[in-house]
Amino acid sequence: MNKHDSEKIAGILQNNGFQYESNTLDTDIIIFNTCTVRKSADDRLFGQLGNIKRLKEEKPNLIVAVGGCLAQNYGKELLLRFPHVDIVFGTHNIERFPYFLKERISTFNRVFELKDEDLYDISCLPALRKTTFSAWVSIMRGCNNFCTYCIVPFVRGRQLSRQSDEIINEVKNLVSDGVKEITLLGQNVNSYGKGVKQELNFPKLLKRLSQISGLKRIRFLTSHPKDLDSETIKTVAESEILCNHFHLPLQSGSNKVLKDMSRKYTKEKYLKLIIEIYYMIPDASITTDIMVGFPTETEEDFLETLDVVEKVKFDNAFTFIYSPRLKTEAIKFNDISSHKEKMNRFNRLVDKQTIISQMKNNNLIGKSFNVLIEDFSKKDRNMLTGRTKTNKIVNFIGDSNLIGKIVDLDIISARAHYLEGKIRD
Ligand code: 5AD
Ligand code: SF4
Repeated sequence: MNKHDSEKIAGILQNNGFQYESNTLDTDIIIFNTCTVRKSADDRLFGQLGNIKRLKEEKPNLIVAVGGCLAQNYGKELLLRFPHVDIVFGTHNIERFPYFLKERISTFNRVFELKDEDLYDISCLPALRKTTFSAWVSIMRGCNNFCTYCIVPFVRGRQLSRQSDEIINEVKNLVSDGVKEITLLGQNVNSYGKGVKQELNFPKLLKRLSQISGLKRIRFLTSHPKDLDSETIKTVAESEILCNHFHLPLQSGSNKVLKDMSRKYTKEKYLKLIIEIYYMIPDASITTDIMVGFPTETEEDFLETLDVVEKVKFDNAFTFIYSPRLKTEAIKFNDISSHKEKMNRFNRLVDKQTIISQMKNNNLIGKSFNVLIEDFSKKDRNMLTGRTKTNKIVNFIGDSNLIGKIVDLDIISARAHYLEGKIRD
């Protein structure tokens, strides 16, 4: 979501005559669009602002702006702590960025503006995308769930679904510009349209989008286990265009911890959903987010998480250690485990999941997949990289004119986090 907002900020600026420059040494304006979901994100930004200070001393006209979730969370404190920051803006006013720049340039005043809710629907603004064949499309903003550990509802506000007609029009325009794959974005896509009169629900939106001629792939994230329903799973099962990948955050396998997190599902309900997905879509891939060290988590609770990981056999898991966030409910909870215990659980979880990911990928050797070729591989510039519909990364040797094309690849070897393939003869 943040990366997509960054594309919008870059798009608005380009429309106002600015030019994108990725090298910080050559640029006149540096914009940090920030995350604040864990303390590590805050620390990274503070470190980078420290580095920029030296650059600003050498280039006094350099403009430094901080926007996004961290800015929304810390507000004016950022201006006080970092005197070399020129502009601070939040998550609800990114369309005003050109005015903030004008203000800074014409008055030399430092600029600060935060809003509590969206003033303007930024979805209609242009986005400066890295690729021409794949695009993110935001279908909703904000979140109403208030999971007790999570800062997102505080920095992104209440859930707001975009009108389906607008989404469909945006996707049609993208497809006519050559886009083959879209990824629908929302904190909880399954609750799309809820509370809005005469609006489509999420599976109906998927059905309408999958009828757009020329569109090859539709992805969506993130799904919430409390809201993912049979209609959505069936819709994905019946469509060639809807990708057979679900990102379904588990967070914890313990019913006690899930309740304390206010996740509103149980381990049993989660496992039932997984069975339904595999029953309806046998070749589906399922990825997840898991957190260890939640304040009320005991060793027994953690073992329940490992048990779910063992039962589901996720294709991949994003794993985190609980990070206390101001404003959230969980910050008031008594934390019963030490950092050492949390680290130990984290390492055991990562080790188990790595073995499972490797095993699942080994099962794919000898199979062939449609792969949308995205770029040169970061690991080896002589190779290209792309993704299957199940969101598996496949690296292979091929000509760069394949970038943006969908190619049949045979899988020849497997690592835990990516596959190697070769072009089908
Ligand atoms: N501490 C650690 N991880 C968190 N996440 C969200 N909030 C926190 C937090 N306070 C994780 C969740 C979520 C993912 C995006 O980040 O697992 O699904
Ligand atoms: Fe945060 Fe929960 Fe909303 Fe996800 S569903 S953004 S974890 S509050």
